[in-house]
Amino acid sequence: MTSASRREALEAIAAEVSACTRCRLHAGRTKAVPGEGHPDTEVVFVGEGPGMNEDRAGRPFVGRAGDLLVRFLATIGWRREEVFITNVVKCRPPDNRDPEPDEIAACLPYLERQLAVIDPALVVTLGRHSMGRFIPGARIGQSHGTLHPVDPSTGAGSAMVYAMYHPAAALRSPDVERQSYDDAAGIPAALLEARRRRAATTPATPPDAPQPGAFIEPTSTDSAHGAPTLF
Ligand code: URA
Ligand code: SF4
Repeated sequence: MTSASRREALEAIAAEVSACTRCRLHAGRTKAVPGEGHPDTEVVFVGEGPGMNEDRAGRPFVGRAGDLLVRFLATIGWRREEVFITNVVKCRPPDNRDPEPDEIAACLPYLERQLAVIDPALVVTLGRHSMGRFIPGARIGQSHGTLHPVDPSTGAGSAMVYAMYHPAAALRSPDVERQSYDDAAGIPAALLEARRRRAATTPATPPDAPQPGAFIEPTSTDSAHGAPTLF
């Protein structure tokens, strides 16, 4: 897929989400929040669902939790524009209650399609509900900061998943905030491992891969942080 066709496909999904009435959450929304970011990124962050600020803006993670997420990214030298950020449910649950299982089920096809288009190397889950989709049965207290293969039925066929606490939980607890900075510091290594596994398990040469004999750029590494750069 080219960059332009990826962008187009993501915009088509976003347009569907904005008009969606598949579950009861559509009734209370101001704006649906499809997600946003770089269509060619290797890393997708998946939160739980929009809050009040996101519902007003139609954009994910723009409130205090979003500010903290941006700070986590800054510690590894990344900007939010370089990744893709979305949620398990795309419309705000009333009073920020947890999304119900039937609402999550109704909305999942959108996330699956976004992941199929982006085909990330790494999915970073933010919080329990997102983790539950990618690492069934895991407990956040044990699984945060750990890396797992992703079930292909999630849409992210060749990705690995790295679990983090929800930034809103970090806002409520200094302990969780400290853990989250530690977990964020582990994202670059998780990406390198996910790249390595993907290269080892990709069976066919993709058509747009460099031809034999062509000069292949080494995978870039940001020397200031020791972190892999995304672009
Ligand atoms: N919390 C989430 O889970 N998602 C957002 O987009 C904002 C806050
Ligand atoms: Fe549609 Fe998802 Fe919004 Fe429900 S939460 S109305 S399934 S976009």
